[in-house]
This record gives sequence, structure tokens and C-alpha cells, in this order.
Amino acid sequence: MDVFQAITQRRSVRSFNSKPVEFEKITKLLDSASHAPSAGDLKDYKFIVVTDKALLSEVAECAQEQYWIRQAPVLIVVVSDFHHTKELYKERGERLYSVQSCAAATQNILLTAHSLGLAGCWVGAFDENKLNTLLSISGERRPQVIIPIGYTDEGAAENKEPELETMVYFNSYGSKVKNMNLLTKEYSKEIEKITEQGSSLFERLSEKVAGFFKK
Ligand SMILES: Cc1cc2nc3c(=O)[nH]c(=O)nc-3n(C[C@H](O)[C@H](O)[C@H](O)COP(=O)(O)O)c2cc1C
Repeated sequence: MDVFQAITQRRSVRSFNSKPVEFEKITKLLDSASHAPSAGDLKDYKFIVVTDKALLSEVAECAQEQYWIRQAPVLIVVVSDFHHTKELYKERGERLYSVQSCAAATQNILLTAHSLGLAGCWVGAFDENKLNTLLSISGERRPQVIIPIGYTDEGAAENKEPELETMVYFNSYGSKVKNMNLLTKEYSKEIEKITEQGSSLFERLSEKVAGFFKK
């Protein structure tokens, strides 16, 4: 599976079967996370792997009644360890860079999981204080994401249509380009669009003409 396939096929999964996750695969997830970019290459992300059933259940309790998390055989909790990032980059380091590097690590985990036939979900809604106590996180550290990982019986996701037109601007924020197909040199799409418009126009015209003669 190439990277683009993993990116476009990945989806959030919130139901897992009882099949355990192989240790080698967990190691691969962590390895992929450790290759994520980080400001100044400080690698300010840490990972707590939770496999103990009782503890896992307590972590799920912290996640605002998202009890489906309990079904997962493994959780990876991504923690930002921002002491050095803050020292070097001040407020921006603490509040932005450390969050961003954890987000990059999280996405690496989710994409690698998908490529290994595993399923997962990014869980950001949880009670931080409770989770800190439960997992002994203190000092200049913050839990950023809980990632439940496991196997699922859910089928493949439907292909989502790209929504580039609503997201991309050129040269300045808000400068909308109506004809994205031409700009991205997707001429065949544009021709298809024009042909479709043309044929529906033709159909409407024929209906009108037929209606005229009926009268
Ligand atoms: C910052 C962030 C926080 C999220 N928190 C949760 C969460 O607490 N629970 C959950 O079920 N999904 C959570 N998600 C997953 C999103 O709901 C999901 O990515 C989105 O609906 C798009 O679906 P997809 O991942 O299948 O493309 C979170 C995603 C992000 C990026």
C-alpha cells in the first residue's frame, strides 16, 4: 500500500473485535511515530502503551463516556513533553510546536495502523486531569491524544470526494478560484463537466420543443 492509498483509505474506526494486536505491529506503530517531524528535532512526543484491561477501562472512563474505547486491545496515549521545546521556543514552543509534533506522530500511527490492516481512532476528548493522575503524567507534559488500536469487522470506508475547492486559495487567504480543474490541469474533468452540462441542456431543450409541439 503506498502512502497516498493509506491516506485516502484511512478512516476513524470505533468498533473492534477481540483479535489481539501482535507486539511486532505495536512496535511498528511506535517506530513510525518516532519518525514524525518535531520542532528543532526535539522529539517532544512520548507514548504510553496501555494493554492492561483494568487500566484501559479506566482510561476509557476519562474519555467522556466514549465507552467503545474499551473494546480496543491496545491504547497508545500520545503525550507532549514540552520542557525543552518551551525553553527553546518559548510560548510558541509550548502551545503550538509541541502540540503539532504530537499531531504528526498521531497521524503516523494512524496511517501505519491502516497499512498494517489495523484500525484506530484519534480521541481528543478526555478529562486531562483524570488521565494525568491515572497515567502518572506530571510536570511540563500534557496528554494530547488517546489512540485506541485493534482489528475491526467493519468493511472498507467509502471513498470520500475531495473537497479541495472549499479549502484551497491561491496567493492570499480567501482568494477563491472557481475553476479548480483548469488550474490543476485536470482538463479531462473540465471537459466531462461541460459535456454533462451540455447534454442536460440539450435534454431540457428537447423537452421544451416536444412540449411546444404537443400544444
Ligand atoms: C483533534 C481531534 C480530536 C478528535 N477527537 C475525537 C474523539 O474524542 N472521539 C472520536 O470518536 N473521534 C475523534 N476524532 C476523530 C474525528 O471525529 C474524525 O477524524 C472525523 O470525524 C473524520 O473522520 P475520519 O477520521 O474517518 O476521516 C478527533 C479528531 C481530531 C483531529
